[in-house]
Amino acid sequence: MKILLVGGTGFISKRIVQNLVGRGYNVTIFNRGLSANPFELNKRVNCVIGNRDNENDLKKVLMGKKYDVVYDMIAYTENHSRIITNILKGKIGRFIHCSTISVYMISDAVHCPITEDQYNRKVMKYFARNPFGMDYGINKRKCEEILWSEHNDKTFPVTMLRPTFVAGPEDPSKRDYFWIQRILDGKPLLVPGSGDFAFQQVFIDDVAKAFCDLLDHDITIGNAYNVAAEEIFSLNEYLGKLSELLNVQPDIVHIDQENFDRLDISYFPGGDVFPYNTRRTSIFSLEKIKKDISYKSTPFKVWMPKTIEWFVKNNKDSIGYDKRQSEIELIKNLRNKHKNYELI
Ligand SMILES: NC(=O)c1ccc[n+]([C@@H]2O[C@H](COP(=O)([O-])OP(=O)(O)OC[C@H]3O[C@@H](n4cnc5c(N)ncnc54)[C@H](OP(=O)(O)O)[C@@H]3O)[C@@H](O)[C@H]2O)c1
Repeated sequence: MKILLVGGTGFISKRIVQNLVGRGYNVTIFNRGLSANPFELNKRVNCVIGNRDNENDLKKVLMGKKYDVVYDMIAYTENHSRIITNILKGKIGRFIHCSTISVYMISDAVHCPITEDQYNRKVMKYFARNPFGMDYGINKRKCEEILWSEHNDKTFPVTMLRPTFVAGPEDPSKRDYFWIQRILDGKPLLVPGSGDFAFQQVFIDDVAKAFCDLLDHDITIGNAYNVAAEEIFSLNEYLGKLSELLNVQPDIVHIDQENFDRLDISYFPGGDVFPYNTRRTSIFSLEKIKKDISYKSTPFKVWMPKTIEWFVKNNKDSIGYDKRQSEIELIKNLRNKHKNYELI
C-alpha cells in the first residue's frame, strides 16, 4: 500500500508514521524539512521536501504517483483542502483528514456528549477568547466543508478524525507542563473560574493508533470520528489527579472568570494562557469510534507519569511561567482583600 502523509515529523504525524512503519508499511512524508526528521535513516520512510502552501510543490509529490492513502495532517484553511482535493480527486484510494473538536466548539448550540453529527451547528457570536480557538475552529470547519462536498466513496473517499486536546511526551503546546511546573514549584496555584467544567484530553499514542486503524476498517469511509480519552475530568479533578502523581498537595485559589479575563497574565496572542479552562462543559461522544474501530483509550494513570517524566527532563519553562511571580503576587493581594471568599 502506498501511503503519503502531508506533515510527518511533528507531534501527531510523527507518531502516525512510527505506527504505520510498525505495521510494516512504507510511508512517504512531505514537509518543509524545517522540523527535525527522526526518520532520516529509516529505509521505510521516504521524505520529500516541499511547502504545502506552494501548489507546485504539492503537485510534484502527488501527481502521477497513485497513492492508496493520503493523510492530510496540516490543513488549516479552506484553500489547503481545496488545492489538495483538486489534485487528488479521482486518483486516490483513501483521503484521511486531521480535523479537531474545535469545529463543534465555535457553536453554543451543541449538546454534550457531542456527537459527530453536530459539526455544523450555527456558529456563535465571535468570541475572541474561545479556549478552543475561534478562527481556528472556523477555518477547520471550512476544510471539512470542502472535503465533504467532494467526498465520493469511489473517487474521493474521505475519513476524518476530530481529536480533543492531544497530550503526551513532546507535546509542543506543553499544556500539561503548564500545570505540572506550577504544582511542582509548591507555590499557590491560580485557577480561573470554578474549575468545575468537564473536558477530555487524548493521549497521543491513542490518536496515532486510531489514525492507523482506519485503514483496517472500510466502514470508516465517509465518516468523521471524535477521538478522546474515555476518562472525563473537570479541571479541579485533573489537578487533583496530577497532584497525586506528583505527590504534592497544591494550594489552589480560584478566581472569578471575569476578573481573571481582565488580567494580562490570562491571555496571549494565541489565546487563553491557562490550559483546560474550557469555560463550559465540553465532552464528546465516543460511541461511533468504539463501534467502528473498537477504539479504547489508555488510562490517565498510565500515560501521565511518562508525560510528567518527559517534561520534567526536557523542558525549562512552560508558557507564561516568566509571569509566575505575578500570579503569586495576585493571589497574595486577593487573599488579603477577600479573606472569607473561596472564589475571589
Ligand atoms: N495538538 C492538538 O491538541 C490538536 C488537537 C486537535 C487537532 N489537532 C490537529 O492536529 C494537526 C497538527 O498536528 P501537529 O501540530 O502535531 O503537527 P503535525 O501533524 O505533526 O504536523 C507538523 C508537520 O507538518 C510539517 N509542516 C508544517 N507546515 C508545513 C508546510 N507549510 N508545508 C509542508 N509541511 C509542513 C512539519 O514539518 P516542517 O516544519 O519541516 O515543514 C511537520 O512535519 C492539525 O491538523 C490540528 O488541527 C491538534
